[in-house]
Amino acid sequence: MLFLQATVLFILSALASSAPTEKRWFGGANWWTHHASASSGYLDFGRRWPGAESSLSSCSLSGVKMPASSTPLPAPADGLTLSHVAIGRGTQNYTCDLSNATAVPAPVGALATLFNVTCLAASAPDLLSILPSIALELPVPSSSDVQDPINQDMSGHHYFIDLTTAFFNMDTSLHQYGSGAFKKVNAVPAPATAPKGQYGRGDGAVAWLKLDAKNDKDQIFQQVYRLNTAGGNPPKTCKGQKAAFEVQYAAEYWLFE
Ligand SMILES: *[C@@H]1O[C@H](CO)[C@@H](O)[C@H](O)[C@H]1NC(C)=O
Ligand SMILES: *[C@@H]1O[C@H](CO)[C@@H](O)[C@H](O)[C@H]1NC(C)=O
Ligand SMILES: *[C@@H]1O[C@H](CO)[C@@H](O)[C@H](O)[C@H]1NC(C)=O
Repeated sequence: MLFLQATVLFILSALASSAPTEKRWFGGANWWTHHASASSGYLDFGRRWPGAESSLSSCSLSGVKMPASSTPLPAPADGLTLSHVAIGRGTQNYTCDLSNATAVPAPVGALATLFNVTCLAASAPDLLSILPSIALELPVPSSSDVQDPINQDMSGHHYFIDLTTAFFNMDTSLHQYGSGAFKKVNAVPAPATAPKGQYGRGDGAVAWLKLDAKNDKDQIFQQVYRLNTAGGNPPKTCKGQKAAFEVQYAAEYWLFE
């Protein structure tokens, strides 16, 4: 616990002293990966900062602004309100047609664990904006059990139920934040400064997205944004790739109801 608090203080002091555009202030991955282990709760960012515990019950989401890329995504539909903000950490999955010498990787979905940073979005947006790049350098949680102590603030899971249907399931044995099936309606490229992949190597950050509910009458969440992405893009060609492979990524998900 003490170490986690020290970690966050380190983040905050680094934020205060570094230029806002410097995303890799932590000096590459070494500092983090050296201290992170599969059994530590490092992705459990939600309440790991000074004062978080006391502000959780009173965090107001009115006036909280989503990050905007240079090409903005359309605003949420009129009447919707921000419901939940999560950090997703997992993989984007791709396949390659190995019988085709000019084939390019085809996206076949994603699988991510979601961590609740709703109150952080309200209280510390600058800190939140760098969490995907930090999360990308940390291991995917070893347990997907919401009751595991390392997952104290796990919101749930994000996965695909078919090639074009993204699902967010945030109803668990501990809480009922909501769930829903979504289709992509808008995409803009991630900013050029976004982390390209783990350890600063990779093929770029996946696009920023806006998703719409597939069945808006039956689900709480109506629209979802994927923002501040880190990693996740496939190589440009299938040369040297396996028939199916994963690319590590992290992102913020903003869910509106
Ligand atoms: C091989 O891949 C290229 C690039 O995706 C595609 O245009 C072409 O149709 C594919 N050829 C076959 C035989 O599938
Ligand atoms: C992505 O890969 C993981 C690990 O192999 C797998 O569990 C998951 O089902 C895959 N997801 C999709 C959508 O293919
Ligand atoms: C988790 O999300 C819910 C909204 O779904 C919010 O009320 C709660 O305060 C959040 N907890 C944290 C730690 O941000």
